[in-house]
Amino acid sequence: MPLSSKHIMTMDDLNAEDIALILDTAESFSEVNQRRIKKLPTLRGRTIVNLFFEPSTRTRMSFEIASKRLSADGVNFTASSSATVKGETLRDTAKTLAAMACDMVIVRHKYAGAPQMLAEVMDCPIVNGGDGVHQHPTQALLDLYTMRQSFGKLEGLRVGIVGDICHSRVAGSLVPALNKVGATPIIIGPPTLMPARSDILGAEVAYDLDEVLPTLDVTYLLRVQFERAARMPFPSNREYAMLYGMNPARLAAMPSHGIVMHPGPMNRGVEISADVADSPRSMILDQVESGVAVRMAIMYLMLGGADSGAAA
Ligand code: CP
Repeated sequence: MPLSSKHIMTMDDLNAEDIALILDTAESFSEVNQRRIKKLPTLRGRTIVNLFFEPSTRTRMSFEIASKRLSADGVNFTASSSATVKGETLRDTAKTLAAMACDMVIVRHKYAGAPQMLAEVMDCPIVNGGDGVHQHPTQALLDLYTMRQSFGKLEGLRVGIVGDICHSRVAGSLVPALNKVGATPIIIGPPTLMPARSDILGAEVAYDLDEVLPTLDVTYLLRVQFERAARMPFPSNREYAMLYGMNPARLAAMPSHGIVMHPGPMNRGVEISADVADSPRSMILDQVESGVAVRMAIMYLMLGGADSGAAA
């Protein structure tokens, strides 16, 4: 097992050496993704289940593409067409999958801790594809990869994470990930969207985006998660955009080398203007591209592809 943990459930499962190994391995797979025939035999005969109980485009598709590019058998589970609608519990679904001898499970669920529950009843490696408002570690890894590609390094970068911090599993993983690689996370947003969560302590905190922007190498906009908020945490989308939305004037206030990131999906016109989202300094589609290579690296390293002798 080349990684120090059997599972990737939170960023706590990975140390700095694991992160460097995943990013280096992803770099070799990104070359494969540029080829006309984008397929390696590395994980032939292995079965990887995408167990998604919440909607997803990027995470689910990139895990599925990654498994196909490594010749694994990728199987998609969709909650709305499964026995879940008949009342089957997550634990019983997990036991059922275990009985089918799958080799790895990627899980997305609205409840924090769902990956840990699967790990209790299944023997195979579990990867968290996003659990409630808790963590989304593979998003943090692909974000680190994208930053490293942009700057050639991670240590010393100042990364402002802006907006709906309290509902964000992306922030929940990105803050510890940045700390592990020697970068500086700064969480920025209105007090009504700031959490009292121990897993993101360790970030600097700011409430005035315009004050901090000139110091940032990366401005990372978070989606406002209207579906998770009990009530509207600000008076209007227009006011939010005025105070915290990234627009051309704010982009100009960043250092000239500064980049903009967003995990997607975006609320255009709320946390990010269309001009900025589509600008050359936006890395949003680079993040999506990185997602395939990073998830290939995770599957390869967690399923012992390195031991099979088949390499990129
Ligand atoms: N960033 C992200 O997790 O996007 P999806 O919800 O589309 O997977």
